[in-house]
Amino acid sequence: MRLDKFLADMSLGTRSEVKKIIASKRIKVNGLIVNKADYQVKEADEIYFDDQLINYVDYEYYVLNKPKGYICATEDKNYPVVMELINSKRKDLVPIGRLDKDTEGLLLISNDGKLNHHLLSPKSHVIKKYYVEVDTKIPENAEEIFAREMDLGDFIAKPALFERINETSAYLSITEGKYHQVKRMFEKIGCTVTYLKRMEFKNLNLDGLDVGKYRSLTEEEISNLKN
Ligand code: URA
Repeated sequence: MRLDKFLADMSLGTRSEVKKIIASKRIKVNGLIVNKADYQVKEADEIYFDDQLINYVDYEYYVLNKPKGYICATEDKNYPVVMELINSKRKDLVPIGRLDKDTEGLLLISNDGKLNHHLLSPKSHVIKKYYVEVDTKIPENAEEIFAREMDLGDFIAKPALFERINETSAYLSITEGKYHQVKRMFEKIGCTVTYLKRMEFKNLNLDGLDVGKYRSLTEEEISNLKN
């Protein structure tokens, strides 16, 4: 593997940031400065950034179409957990964020702690789009209401994008991920959510992925998530 890819994979920066770091002679391989981004890293190489050893960890990134009934956890005494659906030898994979047990849809799973932190940070404003079905007619002015901040008691939800499908179903796109947020936002306008599915997460969607199935992310998808 090239040195710049190795360092970018280890989240030292984007490929171009890492190239600058290499050119500035801050990378040592086996005690010697290497300033060529295309240096081929070998298995036994010890790579240092300034004086910090960079260990290579193989990261895995999956998108799962979570079925109902599964908990977003690595283990649970009472219910099946989403990790049971992923066939990997790695023991450090975790769901990035949470969907309720009765919620279906797009869930990211990875062992990249930095990405996890980045995507869940309130500062990153990742757009999550949900398909929602409710028990009663959604008010005519729902779009206007959701387009403003909404007081949910313990926090103020940011404006959300509401797209009506019919009287009792819609899409809602939000940039936060508080506990039961979508259900609570609909409750606030008098509707109880009867079915909830996350359709999109930033650049990712569920195209071609049946419920209960998962796939690895492409390099392009991973770098888009990181930026
Ligand atoms: N909002 C909810 O209410 N539940 C989820 O699972 C996700 C978002």
